[in-house]
Parts: sequence; C-alpha cells; structure tokens
Amino acid sequence: MPSIRSCALAALAGLSALVTVQGADLTGNTKNLFDESMTFLDKIYDSKAGYLRYFYYPLAASAHETRSSGWYATGLLQRNKGNDRQEAIKIIRNIIDGQHKDPKDEWYGDYQVYPEEPTVGTKAYPAVVYSTWDPNWRGFVGTTLMVIYEEFSHMLPCDLKDLMLESLYNDTVGDGYRNGGLVKGALNPSYTNPSVMRAVQASWVGRKMKDGNMTAYGEDYGSQIIDLFNMNNTLSEFNSAVYNGVSLYALTMWVKYLPADSILYQNGERMIKEIWTSLGQFYNANLKNLAGPWDRTYGYDMNEYFSILACYIWTMVGKEYAPVYDEPWTMAHADDFEYAPIIAVLAPFHDSLVPEDVKEKFRSFPGDHMVETAAFAPPGDAAVRNITSWVASNLTMGAMSFLDDPKNWDHSSQWNAAVTQWGRFDGSVGYFTLYPTVHALDSEVGQGWMNLTYPQGNSSSKFTFVLAPNPLGAKRDMNSLDDISGLNIKVSGSVNATPAITFCGLVGGSCSPKFGFEFWNVTFTMPNTPEGAAALPNLFLEIELEE
Ligand SMILES: *[C@@H]1O[C@H](CO)[C@@H](O)[C@H](O)[C@H]1NC(C)=O
Ligand SMILES: *[C@@H]1O[C@H](CO)[C@@H](O)[C@H](O)[C@H]1NC(C)=O
Ligand SMILES: *[C@@H]1O[C@H](CO)[C@@H](O)[C@H](O)[C@H]1NC(C)=O
Ligand SMILES: *[C@@H]1O[C@H](CO)[C@@H](O)[C@H](O)[C@H]1NC(C)=O
Ligand SMILES: *[C@@H]1O[C@H](CO)[C@@H](O)[C@H](O)[C@H]1NC(C)=O
Ligand SMILES: *[C@@H]1O[C@H](CO)[C@@H](O)[C@H](O)[C@H]1NC(C)=O
Ligand SMILES: *[C@@H]1O[C@H](CO)[C@@H](O)[C@H](O)[C@H]1NC(C)=O
Ligand SMILES: *[C@@H]1O[C@H](CO)[C@@H](O)[C@H](O)[C@H]1NC(C)=O
Repeated sequence: MPSIRSCALAALAGLSALVTVQGADLTGNTKNLFDESMTFLDKIYDSKAGYLRYFYYPLAASAHETRSSGWYATGLLQRNKGNDRQEAIKIIRNIIDGQHKDPKDEWYGDYQVYPEEPTVGTKAYPAVVYSTWDPNWRGFVGTTLMVIYEEFSHMLPCDLKDLMLESLYNDTVGDGYRNGGLVKGALNPSYTNPSVMRAVQASWVGRKMKDGNMTAYGEDYGSQIIDLFNMNNTLSEFNSAVYNGVSLYALTMWVKYLPADSILYQNGERMIKEIWTSLGQFYNANLKNLAGPWDRTYGYDMNEYFSILACYIWTMVGKEYAPVYDEPWTMAHADDFEYAPIIAVLAPFHDSLVPEDVKEKFRSFPGDHMVETAAFAPPGDAAVRNITSWVASNLTMGAMSFLDDPKNWDHSSQWNAAVTQWGRFDGSVGYFTLYPTVHALDSEVGQGWMNLTYPQGNSSSKFTFVLAPNPLGAKRDMNSLDDISGLNIKVSGSVNATPAITFCGLVGGSCSPKFGFEFWNVTFTMPNTPEGAAALPNLFLEIELEE
C-alpha cells in the first residue's frame, strides 16, 4: 500500500487552514429532515459503546450496528454541538477498528456488520455472503467515510484522516475481489446501487493514494454503468424507491467530489437529472407512490414503508408531501430512516441539480398520462425490458415485459413486474401486484387494462397476485375480487377466471406477510381442459375505480 502522508504533510506546510470544504448549511425542509432523524438516532446511540444500537427488525438485545453508526457520525459532525465531534471521532475509530484486515480473506477490507459478532470465517461463524458479511457494506461504509473526509476534514485529527484513507484503500482493494458473473457476492455494473458506490470510491481513493490503476479501474467501471444507462436513460436497477435513493446518493458524490477529468464527474449531473425526470413520470403525488413496475421494493405502498426516496422528497418539497408517517421510525423498513442525516448533508448540492418542474411533480399530480420506457440489466436480462405504465389521478397500472437468462437470475419477492395501485375512501392506497414465479413475461398496458402472458408457460403455470387487505371500515374477508374496496377488476384470457384466494397474515393464515405487509394471495390457474392445456397462460385485466 502506498504510504499515507497527505494530512501530516499538509499540516506541516500550513495548508490545513486552506481546507474550505465544510458541512453544508442546512435550512428549511432539509434542516427539518436532519433534525428529526438526529433526534431519533440520539435516542438509540450508546455513547459507552461508541455505536448506535442495532435497529434492524427483529430488534436485537445488546447488539450495536456498524453502518448506521457511520451515518450518525456524519450527522454529529454536521451538528457539532456539545460532545458531537468527540463522539463522531470515537465512532469512526471503532468502525475502522472493526474492519476486516486479512488480505487473504474474501471479505478483506469490508466492515463488521456489528461489533459483537464472532470472527467471520471461524467454525462457529462461517463466512456467508450477505449474512455474516455483506460485500455491499464496503460501498456503504466506504462512501460514508469519503463524505466525512470531504465535508468535515477541518474537524478531524490528522492521524484519523490518514487512518480513514488507509481504511478506504483496504476497502477498495477488497472490493476488487468481487468480479464478474452473477454468483453470490460478485458485482456487475447492472447491480446499480453498489456499482455506483464502487466507481466513485475507486476513482477517489485512487486519486488520494496516487494509485493510478485503482482510479482507472473506478473510471472504467463507471463507464460501464454509464453505457447501460445511456441505452434508455434509465438505471438497470429500475424504479426502486429504496435503491434509487442509494444510487442518487452515490451519483451526487460523482459530481461533488471528483475532478473535471473524471468520466463520472462528466456524466453524473445528467444522470441525476434523467433519473429524477423518470421518477417524476412514475410518481403519483395523490397516492404518494411510484407507479409500478418496480425492480426491487421493500413493500407495496411507500406510505407504509420507509423508502430512501422519501428523504429526497422531504428535502425537495417538504415532509407534508413525503410518503412518511409523522414519526417515520415507526414505519415498516424504518431502519432506512437511519440514512437520513447523510442524505441531508448532501441534499443542498443534490437538490440543486434537480429541475424545478420535476420537483413540482412530487408536490402535485400533473394529470393522467402514459409512460413508456425500457431498462436493461445483463447478464440477468436476456433482452431489454420494456415498461409501460398508465398513471392516472387515483389509479396507476404498470407492467414490464422481461426475459431472463435463467442461469443468471432468480427473482426474489422484491420483483414486481405488474402493479396496480389505487386510492381508497379512507385516503389509503390499495395494491394488486404480480408475484414473481416465472422467467419471462409479455405485457401490454393501456388506460384501464393490462394484458399479461407467460410466453414460456404451460398448463401448470400460475398467476399469483399480492392484494392489499381492505382498509378499516370495509369488508375484512375477501371471498372474491368483488370484495375489493374501491376497485373493479374484470378477468378474462386463457386462465380460469375464478382465483383461489388465501390470506398471508401477521399471526395466521396460509402464509406469512412480505416485508411486514399482510396480503391476500390471489392465484389464477389454467383450466383443466384441452383448451387450457393447449393455450399460453394469459390474463387480461380490465380495471376501474368503483363508482
Ligand atoms: C489494511 O490492510 C493491511 C493488510 O494489507 C493491514 O495490516 C492493516 O491493518 C489494514 N488497515 C486497516 C485500517 O484496517
Ligand atoms: C488494478 O485494480 C484491479 C481492480 O481492483 C485489481 O484487480 C488489480 O489487481 C490491480 N492491479 C494492480 C497492478 O494493482
Ligand atoms: C431502449 O434501448 C434499446 C437499445 O438501445 C432500444 O432498442 C429501445 O428502443 C429503447 N427503448 C426506449 C423506450 O427508449
Ligand atoms: C423490448 O422491445 C425490444 C424492441 O424495442 C425487443 O427487441 C425486446 O425483445 C423487447 N423485450 C422483451 C422482453 O420483450
Ligand atoms: C380516490 O378515490 C377515493 C375513493 O373513491 C376517494 O375517496 C378519493 O377522494 C379519491 N382521491 C382522488 C385524489 O381523487
Ligand atoms: C393479450 O396478449 C396476447 C399475447 O400477445 C394476445 O394473444 C392477446 O390477443 C392479447 N389479448 C387482448 C385482449 O388484447
Ligand atoms: C410446465 O413447466 C414447468 C417449468 O418449466 C415444468 O416444471 C412442468 O413440468 C411443466 N408442466 C407441464 C404440464 O408441462
Ligand atoms: C399463493 O397461493 C398459491 C396457491 O393458491 C401457492 O401455490 C403459492 O405458493 C402462494 N404464494 C404466495 C407468495 O404466498
């Protein structure tokens, strides 16, 4: 590793006084998000340990957590009241102390998930990717250290700044171990959120450490993300209320922290504008939701789970327009609220890049419209995905056609390829979304209809939908689609038009909720007839709001 002398040398030369980059001046909505999230995090901070308590569900006894502690440290430096600076320094030292240090390990340079964990790779605690170690945390924690270094250098001791660079260097070298393929733990440019973090980290750390190979690697990797983006001006990880938030955070760093000769710097601002333009087309401000389809979600209604996009909507147009509870930490997936302080620190810069007319779409719905776009995520995708959505004032319907390379892709329940949402009498949002069971879907969407076909299906294919329970005050039992509150659905096509309906509940039913969301499982099968055996599975839905 190159020796690190930058800070000490700069101090000797009296240069440290010239460091002018500082934490942002937070005002208005951004200050409000910052203050609310810090008030929450203050309550779960354990100063004795120098870590936040573990706030992933299910909540844990006695354990602390690494990644969110880094976000909190960023917030402490921004706030800088009382002991904030000292606590932040303690946290940063703890995080780096818990970094994996043996270059022979596949998880080298990554950070502990939590400080109490047994040693990864021991008999008692085998290395299991995305469990006992999470390769994406190199990006999450690494980029956090970068933000701290860039924004708050003037508040950090020299030796800590050098230690942060050493930590980032190991982190970035370790990240280089994840190459190619789609086997677990590897990283492709189409896996957008960690990729966008990887690119900026390698480019920046390479520059700081004078490792030209590392910078070239970050730039080259970034150019692969940009090439995918340029096909349709969309991210491969498309329309995701959580992960587009992460990608936007890291793209902000492309523009804010890299010099003009970086390909990331040159493309970041345009990409941020295009991403928001696309999100603005899908967003329905009446329902406070992105219309589907969604590549990856942690729930079915953004008003009910905390999405990172909600942080941005909050900073841009205000909390009252954001899909959040009054107390956001009580929502499903609330741990993502821990991300808010660092989003807020970057928000003044980021928000200045978003066009005003696009911001306005997150405040008021501009009128009924169709959206047509496409996205591509090889090697999982064997073809470009084609996306069409009908976004009306109180009803949205969107679907994509996709064709997987089944060797490289298995959709988790995060994958929602055909989604309907609607507003209900009590102000809540209903959802009816196709559950992933196949590797190919052909879809067409029009105003009030959706046509879904499984091109590789057969007589044993099923169309399973996740259907929202009715709101309080409406029917509690769902015996047929006629019992859905606020929506009429007419079914035709080659399927048996009468679905099987079961309940997936918090404390009972035939299966468990997904992401904390209860639902009715509505499953259509093929008729047990010669016609059914011969036909391609096809479901034609005509959907309208109930009068
Ligand atoms: C970086 O990795 C080296 C081994 O390559 C290790 O000796 C050193 O302690 C690591 N530094 C940090 C900050 O983890
Ligand atoms: C250059 O960077 C790549 C990606 O991190 C790494 O795999 C390779 O070993 C590096 N080469 C040298 C000579 O450092
Ligand atoms: C998406 O990109 C592909 C490949 O360049 C192109 O064929 C297609 O027309 C584009 N679709 C849209 C909707 O822009
Ligand atoms: C999407 O449309 C393009 C033509 O623009 C076509 O080549 C591609 O096969 C379509 N993708 C799917 C999954 O049907
Ligand atoms: C949406 O529909 C519900 C149920 O009919 C109604 O109460 C609500 O006012 C509608 N919202 C809008 C924005 O039209
Ligand atoms: C739905 O799509 C299938 C496959 O493309 C097609 O055969 C069928 O005619 C369509 N149904 C309607 C009602 O348009
Ligand atoms: C239908 O396709 C599935 C998946 O390819 C296969 O497992 C099943 O045996 C097929 N069923 C029939 C009746 O052909
Ligand atoms: C939905 O119900 C069907 C049976 O009707 C079952 O095969 C399927 O596994 C269920 N899916 C989920 C996600 O609960």
